[in-house]
Amino acid sequence: MTIDQLISAYRAAGQGHVFAFWEALNPEERAGLAAQAAEIDLAEVAQLNRDLVLRPAGTGGVNLEGLAPAPCERLPANGGDPAKWAAARAAGEAALRAGRVAAFTVAGGQGTRLGYDGPKGTFSVTPLRKKSLFQVFAEKILASGLRHEKPLHWFIMTSHANHEQTEQFFAANKFFGLDRDRVHFFRQGRMPAVDFAGKLLLETRSTLALSPDGHGGSLRALQRSGALDLMAREGIDTISYFQVDNPLVRCIDAEFIGFHLLAGAGMSSKMVPKAFPEEKVGHFCRQHGKVVVIEYSDMPAAMQKETNPDGSLRYGAGSIAIHVIDREFATRMAGGVGRVVPNPPGSEKDGALGTTRPTSESTPELPFHRADKKIQTVDATGAAVKPAAANGVKFEMFVFDALPFAANSIVIETARADDFSPVKNAEGVDSPQTCRDDQLRQFARWLKAAGAAVETDATGLPHCTVEVSPLFGYDAATFAESWRRLPVKPAVADGLYLE
Ligand code: UD1
Repeated sequence: MTIDQLISAYRAAGQGHVFAFWEALNPEERAGLAAQAAEIDLAEVAQLNRDLVLRPAGTGGVNLEGLAPAPCERLPANGGDPAKWAAARAAGEAALRAGRVAAFTVAGGQGTRLGYDGPKGTFSVTPLRKKSLFQVFAEKILASGLRHEKPLHWFIMTSHANHEQTEQFFAANKFFGLDRDRVHFFRQGRMPAVDFAGKLLLETRSTLALSPDGHGGSLRALQRSGALDLMAREGIDTISYFQVDNPLVRCIDAEFIGFHLLAGAGMSSKMVPKAFPEEKVGHFCRQHGKVVVIEYSDMPAAMQKETNPDGSLRYGAGSIAIHVIDREFATRMAGGVGRVVPNPPGSEKDGALGTTRPTSESTPELPFHRADKKIQTVDATGAAVKPAAANGVKFEMFVFDALPFAANSIVIETARADDFSPVKNAEGVDSPQTCRDDQLRQFARWLKAAGAAVETDATGLPHCTVEVSPLFGYDAATFAESWRRLPVKPAVADGLYLE
């Protein structure tokens, strides 16, 4: 397409303003803008506008029809069958020894809420050594590989904004001891942003406002980058998926992997019982025979408060965004992500609005969601505008929207204290402080269970600052083994680092 044809196509689509400053741009700027403009699917933008941006207020809405709590495998401590968990562990360990599993981190988010300027995975989180999120994951993945005598491949999805910095960070830190040939970075896709009238937003006079397409974009990014092909060549059929913000996550959890494999599932999930009705997590539900996640913003408050006869929350299975995904299922989903379905107004949370969800297994396509955000742009004169309030809409896909397409999808319970303490906000809940404290509590629990004397407060927080390297122990069992092997047990005091 020539530039004249491109500009005409934009005019015909009502988006001609994208070239408003064309005459004033230098050749390099023109080439950049033309390349960006050519990347955008104008028909898709028009449909997104119709369905998500310009629809009349009060239309759409999340389909809650036939919704019920999702069944889940309870932990043995909460009534689950210990034999089933033991069988799952054995199956997961066998898969790990056979090299069938890869780790996958979605690290493309922008970390705006944390107010950290840099790839979120480079943020320091551990109490003593101040290790970054990436280092914690790297050491857990390394430790699991050593334990099962099969080093793992690790796939890391970045964004255009943080890709180079992420790669440089790993190189500067010698890949934290991992084999660099087994660490793979790839960028997620981008979507254009529009204003509330559906007009594409310019970020500068010569660039469009483009933003990551959500963690749901990870499925097609896995495909596009060649990661799924590489997995197939390496005999990997099971993908352990986790978010970059949660250092407590058991990146490679043999029991979870085993449950997923024994069920023959396309995609499986971990849940924690919600701490309180208003907790801001998605809810695992069952609808039309399929597992679905209903975001907290989309479930009516009264429903979130419903209780079982024993007083527990009826919709109490909170999503902590940890999944195991079958490689072939990911391949199938990658072919069909990006379908637009109507999205309802209202129910705003963190700028994101509600969703509708696909129901048919024969059309595996992820919907886009609408998120109202502050988007840096330019005014009619080309001067930069930094908005104080949301001025436009970004479009994102969510990976959990793939769940209803998955055969035999299962949900297993995990203990929050052993799997989930994300760093999302600068202060308050899910902040560096709460995460640090949760890590310390975990180290203290492991030490106590192994017989060490540790003084803690009533919440289990130790009085001293200690740290356990994932290479010493990455869960209670591996910690206990390493502790047993220590010829001299160290006193638990400030500064103790077990590695
Ligand atoms: C998310 C889940 C929520 C879950 C919670 C648990 C959504 C919409 N909600 O909430 O159900 O209970 O986590 O912590 O996801 N990311 C990308 N690319 C993107 C966008 C995000 O890689 O384009 C990554 C981020 O780097 C991060 C993760 O996805 O690792 C989560 O994104 P975020 O937007 O912070 O999700 P939450 O709203 O916290």
